[in-house]
Amino acid sequence: MNTSTTQPAVTNPVVGALSTLLGDSYSLMGETHLAHWNVEGSAFFELHGAFQKQYEELFEAVDDIAERIRAIDAYAPGGLKALAKLSTVPPVPTGAAPAKDFVAALIEGHETTTESAKKVRDTAAETGDLETQDLAIGRVRVHQKTLWMLRSYLKNL
Ligand SMILES: [Fe+2]
Repeated sequence: MNTSTTQPAVTNPVVGALSTLLGDSYSLMGETHLAHWNVEGSAFFELHGAFQKQYEELFEAVDDIAERIRAIDAYAPGGLKALAKLSTVPPVPTGAAPAKDFVAALIEGHETTTESAKKVRDTAAETGDLETQDLAIGRVRVHQKTLWMLRSYLKNL
């Protein structure tokens, strides 16, 4: 085995899809953390706690996604600037805003991230990478459950 030559760039489409999912998941984690800090009003205690559970779950998820990229022999993108470029998750309000605006923005963020996870799922299926597909299916399931909860909550605001 020749170990002296540098490996050529991996063109596995699963890596690209996972990188986008990593960017969206990291961005959604940051936006959820910001919502945890700045949400106000009569729903404060409920939303402050719910958002914390969500960003903690996302923190574990981004580690799993990045380490899956490593496991399929590519390098994980990282750092706020690089990950922001990979993400299309919309921002939550940056100052005073009704609580429902934070929830509505996070709903959009989870929808975006669900689509990224579905892209990983479908790309992995096409290439026969069932283990990445399994990871992606799990992520779709988590985001769908969170969307159900956030949408249900929004009906009462
Ligand atoms: Fe906190």
